[in-house]
Amino acid sequence: MNRFAAAIAVIAIASVIAIAAAVLMNDGGKDVRPDDDPLPAGKTAVVCFSETGNTERIAREIAGITGGDFIKILPEIPYTSEDRDYGNDGSRTRLEQRDPGARPAISNDIDVSGYSIVFLGYPIWYGDSPKIMWTFVETHGLEGKTVVPFCTSGSSGIGSSDDHLRDLSGGGNWIEGKRFSSSASSSEIRNWISGLVPGAAA
Ligand SMILES: Cc1cc2nc3c(=O)[nH]c(=O)nc-3n(C[C@H](O)[C@H](O)[C@H](O)COP(=O)(O)O)c2cc1C
Repeated sequence: MNRFAAAIAVIAIASVIAIAAAVLMNDGGKDVRPDDDPLPAGKTAVVCFSETGNTERIAREIAGITGGDFIKILPEIPYTSEDRDYGNDGSRTRLEQRDPGARPAISNDIDVSGYSIVFLGYPIWYGDSPKIMWTFVETHGLEGKTVVPFCTSGSSGIGSSDDHLRDLSGGGNWIEGKRFSSSASSSEIRNWISGLVPGAAA
């Protein structure tokens, strides 16, 4: 091998090592928790926003399994079915989701100060969490809490929705989020919880 070929080989090997290291070190900024690492024990709230009941059903199951308190986020201006028409490019939900500054108001007083673990559930709207979730995380101190995001959707993954919420919250120990299909089974929910709270899903 001449010196030029050797230099190319060294650069190629170094590049492969650098790319592999970058991939291994990049956890997307999330607090990626090993599967066998349970949540710390603590008082649990299961907070959710749900318009058509799918996320609420799962949130209520999580509350039942963990012994946590179920809390629903209610919009000050309720969404009508026209508002939720995602086929209409001018629908309220479409406009809100497109507007970076939209923060729909919450009508109920929600106090999570007494909880150390907060499950946070929401539907996926246009690939992200509904803007009312942005309102919630910006105005309800999650600092020092373990936050466990989950969502339901027709087909989309959780995408960056949990990252966006974490970034807006300004704190908390955020666990990697979990996506459920709208019709997720109880056993799927229990399986997930059993990895987080050993014994709770027995
Ligand atoms: C306005 C709107 C936008 C939606 N956008 C998506 C989407 O981008 N991807 C997807 O898979 N499902 C989407 N869905 C379907 C919901 O995520 C799904 O039905 C979810 O389970 C609803 O939860 P909920 O019953 O708790 O409100 C959308 C639904 C609505 C109303």
